[in-house]
Amino acid sequence: MTDDRPRQLARTPPLGWNSWNAFSCEVTDADIRAAADALVETGLRDAGYEYVVVDDCWMASETDREGRLQPSADFPNGMAALADYVHDSGLKFGLYSSAGSETCQGYPASLGRERLHAEQFADWGVDYLKYDNCGDHRGRDAIDRYAAMGDALSSVDREIVFSICEWGRNEPWRWGRNVGGHLWRATDDLVAKWRADPDEFGLGVADALNRMADIDAAAAHGPGGWNDPDMLQIGNGPDSGQSEHEAVDVQRPLTEAERRTHFAFWCLLAAPLMLGTDLTSLSTFDRELLTNERLLAIDQDPLGIQGTPDRRDGDAEVWSKRLADGGAAVAFHNRGDDAREISTHVSAVDVTGGAARYQVCDCWTGNEWETSGSLAMTVEPRDTAIVRVMPQ
Ligand code: GLA
Repeated sequence: MTDDRPRQLARTPPLGWNSWNAFSCEVTDADIRAAADALVETGLRDAGYEYVVVDDCWMASETDREGRLQPSADFPNGMAALADYVHDSGLKFGLYSSAGSETCQGYPASLGRERLHAEQFADWGVDYLKYDNCGDHRGRDAIDRYAAMGDALSSVDREIVFSICEWGRNEPWRWGRNVGGHLWRATDDLVAKWRADPDEFGLGVADALNRMADIDAAAAHGPGGWNDPDMLQIGNGPDSGQSEHEAVDVQRPLTEAERRTHFAFWCLLAAPLMLGTDLTSLSTFDRELLTNERLLAIDQDPLGIQGTPDRRDGDAEVWSKRLADGGAAVAFHNRGDDAREISTHVSAVDVTGGAARYQVCDCWTGNEWETSGSLAMTVEPRDTAIVRVMPQ
């Protein structure tokens, strides 16, 4: 077990981009370079998004004789050259494998070859490993399989963020840190929908929020180890500039209100923020949403607290998250089909109490006002108002 190692990585939730939601199994070397360029050009890198992660399907269908992973023909320059390109852009480089015999798309993976692959990753300049749960597990339980890779990563001469993608099946928030994990998926895959039918693949944004409200995982969450409600779907959908590389399982793009809710809640949850769209066709709305400094400050707050629900009655929800400066972020979410006022009081949310006055700042508009305790926001359907509240 590796729970006594220094934990300098991921002191705040990792921010970056991952190829899966936009490019699925069609990803190429050129797509990754274009994503790195776009992170720089859009200002997303300077806003804090630093990891560029190649998800499934980067590897050839055969390993070499010793069992090493080899890049597919879609990565003709090799992974070290790609890592160099990403590093030269002022970014960090990530790869994907699985704690089984195969990846989810049937490519060779790392179970039983953890040390060999960790050495490859370190030699190539990998800074982040997303480690999935597909393939034959050969009778080994999840903790054992993930600990094997955690130990292998800790034995190589490179600091590598370890992203456990076990879908929350075995409550990884209970053991993720102990196997060297820096983040662990708490949910099934997020798809670019508000709600998914129970019998179809994946979770919509509203489904994922229900899941995060229901599981008892917030206590495990904090600097060095984060619950992960999956990568962002902002920007995805059939009418959102994705004609070349249509994402999996999408019917329509999330509306602006739904996208605001998606981003506000991932920040309130202090979730890892891995962008999942084709950044070369990012809309102005999405770029402004994803670089909102007030929201990113809530996500990256040094206390690292996961926001939790204070009230969920019918269509009105209030969630809050304590912040390092003694204030709190408070989210007002409307699940219904009509605009409504949602109200609460400072005594009912996770803010330092007892002050006579509180300063309130609307994180979308920047508008500021004072209150002696009442908080009320008008919220459009499926939208979320989010404020920062500070005792005076
Ligand atoms: C699983 C993971 C996804 C993605 C795919 C790749 O479904 O949960 O995030 O990595 O595999 O095949």
